[in-house]
Amino acid sequence: MKKETRILKIGAQGQDDLILEAAGTIKEGGIVAFPTETVYGLGADALNHQAVLKIFDAKGRPADNPLIVHVDSKQTCMKIARNIPDKALFLMEMFWPGPLTLILERKDIVPDVTTAGLDTVAVRIPENIVALKLIEYSGTPIAAPSANLSGKPSPTNAEHVLNDLYGKVDVVLDGGEVNIGVESTVLDMTSDVPALLRPGKISKEDIELCVGDIIVAYDDRICPETERVRSPGMKYIHYSPDSSVILVEGDHDRVVTRIKELVDDFALRDAKIGLLLTDETKKNINSSLSYSLGSKDFPEHAAKNLFLGFRYLDGKGIDVLIVDGSFKHEGIGMAVFNRIRKAADMIIKV
Ligand code: TXA
Ligand code: MG
Repeated sequence: MKKETRILKIGAQGQDDLILEAAGTIKEGGIVAFPTETVYGLGADALNHQAVLKIFDAKGRPADNPLIVHVDSKQTCMKIARNIPDKALFLMEMFWPGPLTLILERKDIVPDVTTAGLDTVAVRIPENIVALKLIEYSGTPIAAPSANLSGKPSPTNAEHVLNDLYGKVDVVLDGGEVNIGVESTVLDMTSDVPALLRPGKISKEDIELCVGDIIVAYDDRICPETERVRSPGMKYIHYSPDSSVILVEGDHDRVVTRIKELVDDFALRDAKIGLLLTDETKKNINSSLSYSLGSKDFPEHAAKNLFLGFRYLDGKGIDVLIVDGSFKHEGIGMAVFNRIRKAADMIIKV
């Protein structure tokens, strides 16, 4: 059903009257897109079955993929989760507010629709001030997946949200560009040894410094439907552009050589190519259509530019999107590689 979408532009001061208006929409059971420090989320009252259903509807999200519940305090977290292990409490102390989502045992107050019927719930306190105020003024936990159509890259600004969801959501809170650019780290705390279900800015090493060894339970490729997966989101394609995506990863010089060969090859076949390149690689390659991932030595730049680049190049009607994987694998670099590998039709290691 077509809705009237209100766009509320928030200034640097986080204009309270507009956030209050958006909170009113959440309270009434509507859906609101809002900025977080990672990506934009599409929020509804996590405890209101009908409201949460609207999120699945607007995104075209499969009903068996549970949502992250955003809270503004540990007290509210205690209202929706139980038997919280000490390790989880310690991680909250260290990383909240911030881009770490913890999977905990859920309380009955959380409706099945929010957790896709699981007996666990995903929770985080976001760091973005607009997000925090929205939760506070709404007076309820806010369930929010990334605010993109299912299968599209997560949105890192309000324009992306509007491209995907205009006419499908009640309100878009425009708080400018996000800080991080890839989604939060997801960590399952319900097993004796915590399990990393999705890499993000908070790295395996960051977590292990606090709570000792953890298990890596994610796969960079899409899991086959038949395999039992710990995080339902793992089995879905995250980004499927019309073009094919080729990732070339490895040592910088060899990546440059291989990308040049690919560009020549595709040019012979009259294919329209888009390139997502580090600044160092870009200096060595002549191509009219490229988008910058930033310096190869700063994976946080790649994180910020990745989804922007995907959306920009996809909008140019290309046949092939070649991604330069010569930036560092360290820290958030692992999360960036994870997102690209999941999107890739072909991975070339050189
Ligand atoms: O940074 C983020 O996490 C953003 C912002 C808006 O907070 N949200 C986000 O949500 O990326 P979404 O729905 O796009 O990704 C949530 C992931 C999915 O892969 C989902 O399957 C998994 O978390 N998840 C949610 N609840 C879970 C649960 N109870 N057990 C296991 N995995 C869960
Ligand atoms: Mg998502």
